[in-house]
Amino acid sequence: MPRSADPVNPRSSHPLWDWPTRLFHWSLVLLLPLAWWTAEEGQMERHQWVGYSVIVLVLFRICWGFVGSPHSRFRDFLRGPGTVLSYIRGRVAPGPGHNPLGGWSVLVLLSLLLVQAGSGLFNSDRILFNGPFRYAVSADTRDFLGAVHAWGVDALLVMVVLHLLAVAWHQFRRREKLVQAMVKGRAEGKEGEAAPAPWWLAPLLLAAVTGVCWWVLQQAPPPPRMW
Ligand code: HEM
Ligand code: HEM
Repeated sequence: MPRSADPVNPRSSHPLWDWPTRLFHWSLVLLLPLAWWTAEEGQMERHQWVGYSVIVLVLFRICWGFVGSPHSRFRDFLRGPGTVLSYIRGRVAPGPGHNPLGGWSVLVLLSLLLVQAGSGLFNSDRILFNGPFRYAVSADTRDFLGAVHAWGVDALLVMVVLHLLAVAWHQFRRREKLVQAMVKGRAEGKEGEAAPAPWWLAPLLLAAVTGVCWWVLQQAPPPPRMW
């Protein structure tokens, strides 16, 4: 029997994952294959815009981790090493949100996404396309970040595979309705314990993050003059 969030009306419950967290998640699922495909096809203009969208989304999600709905906040799912170990040994029952181990994997995924998209800003295909900040750093740093961009995608792929294996294990072996909750916001046994953030906060935050990113992009130095 799912625990109700409202003692007056036992049939009501709060969503576990608010709509911004779900929209963030499923946008990533769409954008990552698109980033890979556009790079493979050499469609660098499109690749660039897909990458910018990932940067805005991840920065949004990081801010949402501080001001968003209760279960989307970092303090809800980032626990100390003791709790993580106890969870792995089966001595801690997880709450409805990310479990103590999964919580850290979310942070790793977000960091890898930011490193991947961020390093792209300094990258070049050495033919027609330069990332906007290519000329903001030395040649050595460019080479280093180019290597980070090339290898980072493998690290990301490993993490995504682990993520999918973990989700499948909980979904099918432990019969937890994780995917349903990530689609609909809530599912049996996956209800939120507190009211979500007001609906208007996410568009406001997204607009602010996009504005800051746009401003930062305008600060990119032009290519050096050849003559
Ligand atoms: C490009 C591939 C993917 C990436 C980068 C990714 C990334 C993430 C991230 C960052 C979160 C944390 C959500 C948050 O708190 O903001 C998450 C959670 C989750 N993802 Fe994915 N995901 C991917 C693909 C998928 C797919 C294909 C599925 C299912 C079919 C899935 C199912 C889930 C579920 C169920 C959760 C919630 C886990 C929980 O309850 O702790 N993900 N994913
Ligand atoms: C999460 C977002 C991103 C992903 C997953 C991604 C993924 C990739 C992949 C798989 C490649 C091919 C690597 C190779 O063949 O060595 C690539 C190349 C490239 N990416 Fe990205 N990228 C992202 C964001 C960006 C951004 C934001 C920019 C710049 C605005 C960018 C610029 C480039 C450039 C210039 C190349 C060509 C490198 C070359 O030809 O050596 N990427 N990216």
